[in-house]
Amino acid sequence: MWKELGSGDKYKGKINMHNITLIKGDGIGPEISDAVLRIIKSAGVEINWDVQTAGADVIETEGTPLPDRVIESVKRNKVALKSPVTTPIGKGFRSVNVQLRKELDLYSNLRPCYNLPNVKTRYENVDIVVVRENTEDLYAGIERQIDEDTAESIKRITRSASERIAKFAFDYAVKNNRKSVTVVTKANICKLSDGLFLESARNVSKNYGLPLKEILVDNCCMQLVQNPNQFDVLLLPNLYGDIVSDLCAGLIGGLGVAQGANIGKDYAVFEPVHGSAPDIAGQNKANPTAMLMSAIEMLNYIGENKAGERIKKALFKTLEADVKTADLGGSATCSEFTDEIIKNL
Ligand code: NAI
Repeated sequence: MWKELGSGDKYKGKINMHNITLIKGDGIGPEISDAVLRIIKSAGVEINWDVQTAGADVIETEGTPLPDRVIESVKRNKVALKSPVTTPIGKGFRSVNVQLRKELDLYSNLRPCYNLPNVKTRYENVDIVVVRENTEDLYAGIERQIDEDTAESIKRITRSASERIAKFAFDYAVKNNRKSVTVVTKANICKLSDGLFLESARNVSKNYGLPLKEILVDNCCMQLVQNPNQFDVLLLPNLYGDIVSDLCAGLIGGLGVAQGANIGKDYAVFEPVHGSAPDIAGQNKANPTAMLMSAIEMLNYIGENKAGERIKKALFKTLEADVKTADLGGSATCSEFTDEIIKNL
């Protein structure tokens, strides 16, 4: 699935091999990252984890949720594994996740979405790759309060960002033998901004031998629920990409199994689709699969493909033996599930 990114060749010599930044996040973040670190260590991969804290916990001591040391660490190591970080809703500091992606110019959010063994859902043979633009759109954070009863957010879309994400989607599709790219917009309503995203995708597609399909985001959501098998690579602006990613996670068993990566020209940050799940934090209930699948792709990315493959096999064997966390209908705790994967390595 991640053949091209997984080869590691492109990055050989560029990355400081096995010095990797770890952002443990908050909520369920520390539980799932501890689980994943245990599994990676048991698989025999030696990684020098450069552990960095971020989010609400560091504001008091450092005056910002995203201190420069975090950015510097990723710049130094080129690769990071990241757990979710809570963002206050409706008030408070700007999302650490959004800032990190922006500061490191991690312009593509790549979220492959496929069925895992023995994870029961209504859908079979789902195999969709969400490619989400990661730096602009409503996430630029350009908002203002006009008066007490009126607020506005600017949806900013540029040709350069739209063309480079379209190019990323097509390059990925070609290198991974995908059949088509579907660009998802609301260009009937947001004629200028989404119109520009669509036009950019059309222009870029002319350089490739793959078909570009076009769909409006509302219809796309309905079609995904009715027949996800018709889709291959989805190309979306930031906000629709965020929403549709969660919808796609729902097709394959939920957020507990949905992996992801933020890839830029120089750096890559691997992280699950899900957030910090405050409702189950600290209860040993979290499913570490999404984080583990993201970490497996990180291992592929740094050239540790064999270890990645072993871990994936152990994970699949665990699921096949019906050892599952509560979100998948099982009764294993996060640590029991992790122990079982280690046993199966
Ligand atoms: P969420 O993804 O944290 O949780 C949604 C639902 O899925 C909850 O019921 C949760 O228990 C469940 N869930 C998520 N991950 C799970 C796992 N690994 N195992 C079992 N169940 C899991 O979304 P929510 O509640 O909307 O957001 C919580 C916080 O996370 C917010 O502050 C949000 O801003 C932040 N967030 C951070 C992200 C990141 O760091 N990249 C991404 C998305 C949200």
